[in-house]
Amino acid sequence: MRLAPSLLSADFGALGEAVTAAEQAGADAFHLDVMDGHFVPNISFGPAVVRAVRTRTRRPLDVHLMISEPARYLDEFREAGADTLVVHFEATTEHRRLLSRIRELGAEAGLALRPDTPVERAESLLGELDQLMVMGVRPGFSGQAFLPEALPKLQWVRTRLDEMGSAADLSIDGGVNAATGAQAAAAGATFFVCGNSVFGRGSVGENLGALRRAIDAGAADAVR
Ligand code: DX5
Ligand code: ZN
Repeated sequence: MRLAPSLLSADFGALGEAVTAAEQAGADAFHLDVMDGHFVPNISFGPAVVRAVRTRTRRPLDVHLMISEPARYLDEFREAGADTLVVHFEATTEHRRLLSRIRELGAEAGLALRPDTPVERAESLLGELDQLMVMGVRPGFSGQAFLPEALPKLQWVRTRLDEMGSAADLSIDGGVNAATGAQAAAAGATFFVCGNSVFGRGSVGENLGALRRAIDAGAADAVR
């Protein structure tokens, strides 16, 4: 089970300190939400911020591209230090070309699906993926409530990946807290993006610890 704090919920005025605090508290990776004000209504940050975070940590950077025309920017985000490039299913018609380009660049290839996109539509692409990201909220903002329809989607993908013998990460992004993280773990998720539940109230260390305990307990339920 890997936990990836989402920097969208961190204090942008002290981003470096937030990265260090989360790393010391045991973050396995960092999730960076790139939003262009077009594919989603919000605007966040671009490659310069990815590059700045890269100087602060050696943990993998999971870059979630909520942008139109992702193909135009893959090289730039890879050069900035992304380890995984996650493109949106809805942002392109050329899924295979994009995913293979990401791997050509030496990064891991991820695909995210909006809550209104049936996950079955990605079935034929599962073999091309290092990560499939199920969204627990509508992309655009942190701090939204988890949509429970993500859980059967995780179960469906878990079954397909297991049948294929795939070691791809199954990630859940949006609305993950101790309770929903445990449910997602029981449904087969292996990678947990956590924004508000890490950088919101309380200390980053305690928050990450509580999330990890709940998620590990949820994962143990899945095995039973
Ligand atoms: C939503 C983003 C998420 C967001 C998660 O568009 O993709 O990564 O930062 O934040 P929380 O965990 O607060 O829902
Ligand atoms: Zn995200």
